[in-house]
Amino acid sequence: MVHPAKPDWQFSERARSLTSSAIREILKVTERSDVISFAGGLPSPEGFPVEVIQKAFSDVLATRGKSALQYGPTEGYAPLREWVARDLTAHGARVLPEEVLIVSGSQQGLDLIGKVLIDPASRVLVETPSYLGALQSFSLYQPEFRSVPSDEEGLLPDALSSELCAKARFLYALPNFQNPTGRTLSLERRHALVEAAARHHLPIIEDDPYGELRYRGQPLPGLLGLAQGSGASVFRLGSFSKVLAPGLRLGYIAAPAPLLAKLAQAKQATDLHTASLTQMAVHEIVKGGFLESHLPAIRRLYQRQCTVMLEALAATFPKEAHWTHPDGGMFIWVTLPSGMDTTTLLEAAIKEKVAFVPGAPFYAEAGPRNTLRLSFVTVPEERIREGIARLGALITHTLAASEPRAA
Ligand SMILES: Cc1ncc(COP(=O)(O)O)c(C=O)c1O
Repeated sequence: MVHPAKPDWQFSERARSLTSSAIREILKVTERSDVISFAGGLPSPEGFPVEVIQKAFSDVLATRGKSALQYGPTEGYAPLREWVARDLTAHGARVLPEEVLIVSGSQQGLDLIGKVLIDPASRVLVETPSYLGALQSFSLYQPEFRSVPSDEEGLLPDALSSELCAKARFLYALPNFQNPTGRTLSLERRHALVEAAARHHLPIIEDDPYGELRYRGQPLPGLLGLAQGSGASVFRLGSFSKVLAPGLRLGYIAAPAPLLAKLAQAKQATDLHTASLTQMAVHEIVKGGFLESHLPAIRRLYQRQCTVMLEALAATFPKEAHWTHPDGGMFIWVTLPSGMDTTTLLEAAIKEKVAFVPGAPFYAEAGPRNTLRLSFVTVPEERIREGIARLGALITHTLAASEPRAA
């Protein structure tokens, strides 16, 4: 494109605050086929029901083509809103169809929530660490992030002091198989969190794209269901990306009607509505209970891959390292000895043709430098073993090189 040497446009202050992360640049290399990459956050394409999706789209076009190709309501396709409301109710949270807004991926839900709930310098509470995409979304609205500490059982409700919660617009929480750590909020903490939220009048955004991907242990009640009748406000984000396919770009927000109306106004300004054809096709797929027959295969696949990675970690990583043991989802979080820097380690790892995501960007405030995220779902088993062995050897070598030599 031909354009003047000196741009005659001016970026908004908001746009100027957007930066491309150095890590993203490094990770571009990981798309090379000779690199074993545990860096991606993508679900396994083996789980995409391509033929079922193809049939649904063609059935919708054949039977209701004209309305599927027409503009539709901003709130979403009514039968899909009803299905989501019924599904949530079956999972223990009483939700009405008019409390469901269909969005173009739950990532859009995060952006809409930022748009309607955050003013510059508003306080937003996030887990430590938290989903990078949410931090990016909310950042556009220039909040003041405050971190809530967490441990193996998820965030610590006791850390929600009056001082921390004062004037906070909301807490963003990931109760199941959290991205990036794979951790799950324990039942006791769920109760304590909802109780603290009610006490401090702190709304919770419950983001749960991985909840259906549990392959160990019993499902735990969601925060939305637990909050009902407690006085706490929970707004829930859900997604079809991990249970069907992310390319569909389909998710939802469940929220009380007055908030939903505002979110719908914001969505209208953004994209009028989510693609009618996609909503109708997905409704066609889920309405007959397809997910119940489809999800066990994805869970089995992810469980197998997770087990292979955990075994490989135990066999090849130095004893000073430790890592999470997820009950579902796609990620394992590794903590290396303090003093190690995983951003530097990534450069060395790429030379060994293996990649991961360093942990630092997942912290809203300054965080430790010695953590990293591994995704186990898109790499074949043999390559998982090979890649983890390479990484284990590199970490062992780096540790040995940094130890003071005996006199
Ligand atoms: C925690 C979390 N929330 C939201 C999203 C966005 O999902 P989508 O927009 O595909 O529904 C992701 C994607 O990986 C995620 O990990």
